[in-house]
Amino acid sequence: MSPQPANSNPVDQLRARFADAIVRAYPEQFDDPSTVDPLIAPAKNPEHGDFQSNAAMGLAKRVKRKPIDVAKAIIEHAEIGDIAEPLSEASIAGPGFINVRLRSDALAAMLEAIDTPALGIPAPNTPETVVVDLCGVNLAKQMHVGHLRATVVGDAIARTLEALGHTVVRQNHVGDWGLPIAMVTDALMREAAAGTVSLDDLTLDTLDALYRRAQADCKADTRGLDAARTRCVGWDHPKALAELETQVEFAQQRLAQAKSTLVRLQSGDAEVVAVWQRIYDVTMAACLDTCRRLHATVTAEATAGESTYRDELAGVVDDLVSRGVAKEDDGALIVENADEKNKPFEPTLIRKSDGGFLYATTDLAGIRRRVQTLGADRAAYAVDARQALHFKQVFASAHKAGYTSKPDGTRARLQHAAFGMVLGEDGRPFKTRSGENVRLASLIDEAVDRATALVEERSADLAEADRKRVAEAVAIAAVKYADLSSERSKDYVFSFDRMVSFQGNTGPYLLYALTRIKSMFKKAGLADPTVEPESAPSTETPAGPFAIEAPEEKTLALLLLDYAPMLAGVGESLEPHRTCQYLYDLAGAFSRFYERCPVLKAEGATRDSRLRLASLTARTLRHGLDTLGIGAVDRM
Ligand code: ARG
Repeated sequence: MSPQPANSNPVDQLRARFADAIVRAYPEQFDDPSTVDPLIAPAKNPEHGDFQSNAAMGLAKRVKRKPIDVAKAIIEHAEIGDIAEPLSEASIAGPGFINVRLRSDALAAMLEAIDTPALGIPAPNTPETVVVDLCGVNLAKQMHVGHLRATVVGDAIARTLEALGHTVVRQNHVGDWGLPIAMVTDALMREAAAGTVSLDDLTLDTLDALYRRAQADCKADTRGLDAARTRCVGWDHPKALAELETQVEFAQQRLAQAKSTLVRLQSGDAEVVAVWQRIYDVTMAACLDTCRRLHATVTAEATAGESTYRDELAGVVDDLVSRGVAKEDDGALIVENADEKNKPFEPTLIRKSDGGFLYATTDLAGIRRRVQTLGADRAAYAVDARQALHFKQVFASAHKAGYTSKPDGTRARLQHAAFGMVLGEDGRPFKTRSGENVRLASLIDEAVDRATALVEERSADLAEADRKRVAEAVAIAAVKYADLSSERSKDYVFSFDRMVSFQGNTGPYLLYALTRIKSMFKKAGLADPTVEPESAPSTETPAGPFAIEAPEEKTLALLLLDYAPMLAGVGESLEPHRTCQYLYDLAGAFSRFYERCPVLKAEGATRDSRLRLASLTARTLRHGLDTLGIGAVDRM
């Protein structure tokens, strides 16, 4: 990746120039421009400028002057003649906003600096190793719509960090251990012995049904029994009572049986492990298939389920006890937690009084491995927001335990990239008509059906095989984009109609916007700008200087310059919806530009410049979609 193009970010440049001016104007207040925030923002009214500094109002209070006088003083000391048009009293608006208009040669130079394969994205000052926790399916269960978010949001975060030059290690923290898994293993062993289920042609559907039955079977209706017993005193309800007694006895037996299977599984009993392995293989094959179809990079190598920590849990607990980090509490072991302000909050339970370990124990072992073995400087978890307390506890305990200490003595950063729920159009959790969780695979199938209908209608001229390919790409783009474009931490309403549309802020719209630019180049006999030339750029590639004149050109240019800073922001906040919003704005700015500024019909330097803007837009769209894990199509 190329080093940071020093002059490509107008906001950074203006920030530096205005900070200097403020220090020069008020040397008695400030001695270091890096401590001054000149509050640079896009201009509220583009007729008055491109950017504005809003610093005068705050500063006025500090220096006890009128904002207008402060604005004048800043202008007097500003040295920005090389990048902006001269400032004067006419640049001041309202109480003291200072409007700035970039010089068009400066703008052209900035565009020149980002018109490279890296699109202005600088190599990171300190490249980090970031572990991204994503997908996190559970054994013997179909992937449902909740896993869509864990998979595509996690994948987009991983891709974004990679695009920013960091080293990413993906970890699929599969729920493949513990009592619920032992229950289904136990049930499967029984069914296999009875010949009702064959281990050889086991499917995830069968497992899913078995899982649910095993759960129900192990659940004793002790409440019902207690109620019946109380009510039965002096009464005569022998039948109901007997039924309940049988149920409870049966459930208790099943549970005891599952617990003994768990012990056998934990001690490596070959027979149990073989059945567990079968469940694992069937689940994971289906999971990885779905991820592949979703164009999300989740692989077997990146999968480290809870079972991979089984031999580390006792060690973690011993370690925490011996160093006094964990303490006994009513027979259980806990780690007490406090927030940044030292205010205590719910402790992390790491061992139950019956000796069993918990979800949190595994996640503590996970953090230790991620930092100490995988070398994480940072770990991000794309997990349901309903697990917020869990991660708050585990993160605090991990820091307290020293599991986040890096060799250089600093702490690895831990972030819960929490996502909201997927809701149906009735505003309640998205379910099938019969009230079941919506299977991710059938959801994708339905999106493909709808996209197929749309593509047949719109692109009847495409060959059958191409239409199929395009329909699949459109469907995946639609589903993923709908998920990614919703504010990450909020719930969103799932709507096939909206997401598959070619209008509005949708995946298909962005794919279409990109193909339109590509076909413009094709029409002109020019190389596809989104395809890296194999050798030197062809002579067909427009090479004249940028010349930014029309307002639509300027809006587009400023957005293009904002791509790298925008992406860097997403790398921090881990909010891919910001990338989506940016790309939607970019596609809109391009179409307004294209409407108002002829490209192919323009001549000479204007044509070259506009072609370069179009090329840069296409490459930025393509790059942005890549960071979201959305594959582009050539035609549609
Ligand atoms: N299997 C978990 C669930 O379905 C998600 C795992 C998330 N990752 C983690 N490190 N806890 O809720």
